[in-house]
Amino acid sequence: MSGIASVRGRVRLSLSNRLALLFAAIMLIAFAVLYLYVAPGLQTRLLGDQLSQLSSDAHAHSRPIARTVGSAEPLSNVQDRVNAAALATGDRVTLMLVSHVAGGSELSTLADSSRRSATAALSFAVARRAISTGLMATGTERTRSGTVAEAATPVMFRGRTAAVIVYSAPASGVVRAVTTVRDQILVAGAIALLLALIGSYLVARALALRVKRLERAAEKVAAGDFEEAIPVDSSDELGQLAVAFNAMQRQLAQLESARKKFIATASHELRTPIFSLSGFVELLEDEELDVGTRRRFLEQVRDQVERLRKLSVDLLDLSRLESGSLELRPEQVDLSELTRSVSGEFEPVLAQHDSRLEVRVPAGRIEATCDPVRVAQIVRILIDNALVHTPSGSRIMVSTRRADGHVRLAVRDDGEGIDPQALGRIFEPFFTADDAQGSGLGLAIASELAGCMAGRLSVDSRPGDTTFTLELPA
Ligand SMILES: Nc1ncnc2c1ncn2[C@@H]1O[C@H](COP(=O)(O)OP(=O)(O)O)[C@@H](O)[C@H]1O
Ligand SMILES: [Mg+2]
Repeated sequence: MSGIASVRGRVRLSLSNRLALLFAAIMLIAFAVLYLYVAPGLQTRLLGDQLSQLSSDAHAHSRPIARTVGSAEPLSNVQDRVNAAALATGDRVTLMLVSHVAGGSELSTLADSSRRSATAALSFAVARRAISTGLMATGTERTRSGTVAEAATPVMFRGRTAAVIVYSAPASGVVRAVTTVRDQILVAGAIALLLALIGSYLVARALALRVKRLERAAEKVAAGDFEEAIPVDSSDELGQLAVAFNAMQRQLAQLESARKKFIATASHELRTPIFSLSGFVELLEDEELDVGTRRRFLEQVRDQVERLRKLSVDLLDLSRLESGSLELRPEQVDLSELTRSVSGEFEPVLAQHDSRLEVRVPAGRIEATCDPVRVAQIVRILIDNALVHTPSGSRIMVSTRRADGHVRLAVRDDGEGIDPQALGRIFEPFFTADDAQGSGLGLAIASELAGCMAGRLSVDSRPGDTTFTLELPA
């Protein structure tokens, strides 16, 4: 297994190598098309041009030669006319006589503008084609000394093809030109390929370096180091990735610090009453304590135990809420009834506190979809705050009403209000804005609970009027 893995590791291509190879392959294909398709095409076109030049020469200059066929013209005159046509066109001109024999025809050269020995090398296949079709024929012929382009025009005498005049010229110029072009394509291709390889490798390596930087940053974050942000040096996709990565890193850093703070505060909150308890227990062990002091100490012990109980219940609630494991049982609830009964629970406390609590609910039911136990918990938290964080003698008003598809439950007091700077943070766990003894978990739990029931808890505070509003779906 490890053998296979290590082979794979060695064969694995890096991003930059893969890109460089891809660019090179594209270049290679482009040059192969040039070499294998464009260059032969060029050759065909150039040869075609040469052949049509030859056939137009044949059209223009054959008449004087053709007229000698079947006449009693001396051979030297015929040769002169052939030479004249060759001189005028620059082609080699050959006049061949056709003798019809059984099963075909035979060709014999009568006059040639160049030496006869040169004619021997040519087979003049085009001449045979011209005889059989009775029309002008063009074509190329390969000889030992190179390709030759030919145009043959038939000469009719007494209804038969009596002779053929062949115009020929070496096509080696064309072939040489195309070969040169091909060679140059090869050289240019090799240079371009090399440049493409180097260029694409450099570009790809620069990209790969940037990706590597992201990878290293991600590894750091994974190891718990949120300090260093990645420099954002461009606005392209990788730059945007770096921006997104930095945003994620910041968020993770915030979460991490919130988590650490939560644990630190929670353990501090738990430690304080436990230290206090152990102090009182030690004091109570003293047997010479008088009854009054002993009772006072016991009262303190009871207070601290109550504080610990509340704190542990709150912490448990909050952790269940944040992990999403708190189970809610939503149902249709009459909020008027619920508001009245929760407010009633506070009567004994109100008597001590010297505050007044007013409940204002319209006649009839106000239905909302929610978990009644949890809504009661929120209302308790809000009324408790209105009592604890206001001077004694304050007036508290709890009201419920319908409002555009929602139900609003408001707890309002006429206390000094919440400092505007603290207002944005009162829903954070453990945040307390005044000296009243509290763990700062109440509003955090209340707003999480509201969110779980598709509702919302909001606050509006100014001196003399602080209103917490719980909005729930109707
Ligand atoms: N009705 C209110 N009037 C003034 N301040 C309030 C009121 N309700 C809440 N607060 C402020 O918001 C803070 C957070 O409240 P809470 O989360 O219930 O924690 P705790 O009551 O344990 O301090 C309180 O410490 C207090 O400063
Ligand atoms: Mg509170």
